[in-house]
Amino acid sequence: MFALSLADAKVAGGLGLIECDEPPMCRLLPHDPSAKPAVTDPIISIQGLTKTYDSGFEALKGIDLDIREGEIFALLGPNGAGKTTLISIICGIVNPSAGRVSVGGHDIVRDYRKSRSMIGLVPQELATDAFETPLATCRYSRGLFGRKPDAAHIEKTLKQLSLWDKRDGMIMALSGGMKRRLMIAKALSHEPRVLFLDEPTAGVDVELRKDMWTLVEGLRRDGVTIILTTHYIEEAEAMADRVGVINHGDLILVEEKDTLMQKLGQKQMLLDLTEPLAAIPARFADLGLELADNGSRLIYTYDTRAERTGITSLLSDLRDEGIRFRDLTTKQSSLEEIFVSLVQEG
Ligand SMILES: Nc1ncnc2c1ncn2[C@@H]1O[C@H](COP(=O)(O)OP(=O)(O)OP(=O)(O)O)[C@@H](O)[C@H]1O
Ligand SMILES: [Mg+2]
Repeated sequence: MFALSLADAKVAGGLGLIECDEPPMCRLLPHDPSAKPAVTDPIISIQGLTKTYDSGFEALKGIDLDIREGEIFALLGPNGAGKTTLISIICGIVNPSAGRVSVGGHDIVRDYRKSRSMIGLVPQELATDAFETPLATCRYSRGLFGRKPDAAHIEKTLKQLSLWDKRDGMIMALSGGMKRRLMIAKALSHEPRVLFLDEPTAGVDVELRKDMWTLVEGLRRDGVTIILTTHYIEEAEAMADRVGVINHGDLILVEEKDTLMQKLGQKQMLLDLTEPLAAIPARFADLGLELADNGSRLIYTYDTRAERTGITSLLSDLRDEGIRFRDLTTKQSSLEEIFVSLVQEG
C-alpha cells in the first residue's frame, strides 16, 4: 500500500481516481491526450483571481496573467507574497475565492479533470513516502493520472535526475536534495504539459542546481511549459523567458526577462586609478561620479538606453585632467538588484 501526500490526494482526487473529501468526486478517468489547446492560446489564463483564507487574510488580490505555451515563467516575490497560493489554486489544491483560471482551455473548476491531467506539481513542502522506493513511487504517480505504465520514461526521468542508482532503496534513506529531485521525477512521471516547480532548488547543491537548469532546458525543448518560483534570483536570470513579481498578493510586474534587465538595469563603468583621488574634480560634478576603495576606484553609472552614454567624453576629459587608470570594467545590474528595488518600492 502506498502512502499519499496531500498534494497527491487532492490532485488525484480531482482526477476522480481515489476517495477524497474534496469536491469533485471519484470516477476513473483515463488521461486525455486531446486536452491540447490551439497553439496561439495561452496555456494558462488567469483572470481576476483572488484568495481570502478562512482567517480573513487576503493572500491574492486580483491576479490577471496569461502563460504562453512552452515558456519558462519565473514567479518571484518575498516570503508570504502569495506564490504558493497562486500555484496551489491552479493545481486544484486550494479553492479560489473569486476569478477564473483555465489550463489548456479547460476551466480548473468546471473541467478540473482535464486541467489537472495536464499539470505536474513539485510542491514547496517535501512530501514523500518514506517506506517506498523511488522507482515504485514514480510508477504509482504515473498510474494515479491514468497513464499506461512506461518503464522507459520512468527510467529516463530518474536518470536525468541522477536517481537511477537509488531507485530501489527506501526513500527515507535519500538526502534532502535527493528527495527534492525525486519530487521532480514524480511530477514528471505522467508527462505533464505544464510543470510547476515551487522552490525546486531549495537545499540543492550548486552542481545539482545547474543540472536542474539543464533538465528544465531539456523539458522546454520538449515543449513543456514551466512555471517556477525561486528565491535564487540568479536562477530566474539563468532560465526564465519571462518574470513576474508578486508582492502582498499583487502581481506588480510581468515582463520579458531581457527587456526587464535592459529597461531597469543600470550599467556601471569602473575605473581602477593609477593614483588615488582625494576628491572628484569640480568639472565632473554633474556626472554623478563616485569614488570607492579609498579614492582608487572611480565609478560612472550610465543609462544603456540613452543615445549617448557619455563614456567617450568622460574618458577624454579624464585624460585632460591627468587622471590615469590601469583597468576598466563594466558591470550590468543583476536581476537580483532589480528585484530588490521593485519589492522595496511596492
Ligand atoms: N492555509 C492558510 N491559511 C491562512 N493563511 C494562509 C494559508 N496559507 C497561506 N497563508 C498566508 O497567505 C500568504 C501567502 O502565502 P504563500 O504560501 O502563498 O506565500 P509564498 O509567496 O509562497 O511565500 P514563500 O516564499 O515563503 O514560500 C502568507 O501570508 C501566508 O501566511
Ligand atoms: Mg511558497
